[in-house]
Amino acid sequence: MSKPRVFVARRIPDEGLDVVLRATDATVWPEELPPPRDELLRAVAGCDGVLTLLTDRVDDELLDAAGAGLKVVSNYAVGFDNVDVPACTKRGISVGNTPGVLTDTTADLAWALLMAAARRLPEGDRYVRAGKWKTWGPMLLLGTDVHGSTLGIVGFGRIGQAVARRASGFGMTILYHDVHRADAGVETAHGATWVPLDELLARSDAISLHVNLTDETRGLISTEALRRMKPSAVLVNTSRGPVVDQRALHEALRDGQIAAAALDVTDPEPIAADDPLLSLENCLVVPHIASASSATRGKMAEMAAANLLAGVRGERLPTPVNPEVYES
Ligand code: DGY
Repeated sequence: MSKPRVFVARRIPDEGLDVVLRATDATVWPEELPPPRDELLRAVAGCDGVLTLLTDRVDDELLDAAGAGLKVVSNYAVGFDNVDVPACTKRGISVGNTPGVLTDTTADLAWALLMAAARRLPEGDRYVRAGKWKTWGPMLLLGTDVHGSTLGIVGFGRIGQAVARRASGFGMTILYHDVHRADAGVETAHGATWVPLDELLARSDAISLHVNLTDETRGLISTEALRRMKPSAVLVNTSRGPVVDQRALHEALRDGQIAAAALDVTDPEPIAADDPLLSLENCLVVPHIASASSATRGKMAEMAAANLLAGVRGERLPTPVNPEVYES
């Protein structure tokens, strides 16, 4: 019997890739950059399954190009805003993602960004490398204390809660906002209090974003939202770039409306090298690396491979995004 045909849109760690290569007739996009759109559409034609990344848009055009045999889209990420899930569901195509395995690694990076921005680590590093360090200075690079401050978490799912857990050693007051209020037990376990978003923005010293990108969260951190924040506030974004209005953020950072921002995600990605945000000392940007530990990327690869293989075999995916596809 011939093996199922699949397209893997980038080399993923061997933990998943080896499994896919053994079980399928796979084409793997070999380049560092994602396949250009026309190449992607050509490559998926006639496939039973595709393994996509957050850089690959999966929409009706791609599904048409793949053809009626496509059974599964396995996204190598927990987020799936690059996938038109209703379009897949309508065609009976399962969509998988990689939840759970990257929660702690992502929360670690949110904390690294928070600490780095609050204590001005990138500025300090640049200062030393530029040969500006002359002596110990009473006023040199004064930052904001993280311990004892108020942490506001926007989006209290798995990652938001993992960020809250890490705050316990810092004696922080933890506020959170989520459209779905957590159970009382979860709130107590994390010492977290639900508040309306405006109150969170006004009271928090550090604000960390952990929402999915949806029509409701696009532009959530707007000019008005930034105006509500304290002048000493630090904003951390490890969710998706479009959740923050970047032009408004630039103005807020430039005008001292908030103290600092640390971004793992931008809009667009990559951010242009001449983007005004990058000219600001109080803005730290890293290239979407929140889940980038070797162990976690390996586990994501295993999960994405397991979803892909289950899908091409017509089995239920271990972690489906659209379980409703199995109902009809
Ligand atoms: C995700 O999984 O959604 C992250 O953004 C990349 O790991």
